[in-house]
Amino acid sequence: MAQLLDGKAYADQMLEEVRIAVEARKKDGLAPPCLAVVLVGEDPASQVYVKGKVAACAKTGIRSVERRPPSDISQSDLNLLIESLNSDPGVDGILVQLPLPKHLDSKAALHRISPAKDVDGFHPLNQGHLFEGLPGLRPCTPSACMRMLKSYGVDMKGQRALVLGRSEIVGKPMALMLLEEHATVTIAHSRTVDLPGVCREADILVAAIGKPGLVEGSWIKPGAVVVDVGINRVMDVPLGERIFVAEPGKLEKLREKGSVLCGDVRFGEAMQVAGAVTPVPGGVGPLTIAGLMMNTLEACENRGA
Ligand code: GUN
Repeated sequence: MAQLLDGKAYADQMLEEVRIAVEARKKDGLAPPCLAVVLVGEDPASQVYVKGKVAACAKTGIRSVERRPPSDISQSDLNLLIESLNSDPGVDGILVQLPLPKHLDSKAALHRISPAKDVDGFHPLNQGHLFEGLPGLRPCTPSACMRMLKSYGVDMKGQRALVLGRSEIVGKPMALMLLEEHATVTIAHSRTVDLPGVCREADILVAAIGKPGLVEGSWIKPGAVVVDVGINRVMDVPLGERIFVAEPGKLEKLREKGSVLCGDVRFGEAMQVAGAVTPVPGGVGPLTIAGLMMNTLEACENRGA
């Protein structure tokens, strides 16, 4: 049976670290860090994510301000909103929750955020720093995953690491961070030939492709470390019957409640083959939020505010 990589417990440790640092700032008479969260429109999933981020701010003593423009905001008004947060000396970090409504250009908006306040690490300047191996604000999910792997003593040097997914939020930055730790890195994606065979070579497998239960137990090298970044809501019972064969409890819950959350990896099957696995929920999700709190603190301290 694989070891469970408890993302939730490690995220709580990270939050406690941030809380102590914020407390120390306050004792020194300094203002707490401040995160501005921009949520455009009413997307229900985004509302849930933003609620989690604001709650984590409250838990760590970070101040949060929310800006909730309507879904029909124009690009130029969104740009003005971002500019006003850029020039607000009381704001240390700016997060524009994605996805944005279709008429808006996400990249154009993200590129407007001041690199010093870019707590998502999506600005090309920060991406460039990561590319060059320099310090800077880095994307929250991969940086928090790397911290957790290190805390569990996972030695990445010389190991074969496979990143499944090539997004700018997770896949690409994760590959660079694994490379920085001297892993031998492959990026695979939906068009990769023989995905199962490529996965089977991996000592460290990071799944971030957004396909529920794609990675089967038979795709996993015995003893591998599996990090499941996918957070997928499954409502389709026939799909659940296929991917939850080794997780009868999950299938039962799907039948009972009409939906369940699951990762890109078949967790029950992975637990029988892998050396260590992150669960979904309770794995990478909480880590992402903890990474955001770390970045907000870092942005604040770097600004010398
Ligand atoms: N939507 C899904 N993941 C993310 C993220 O990491 N940052 C932002 N801003 N939006 C997201």
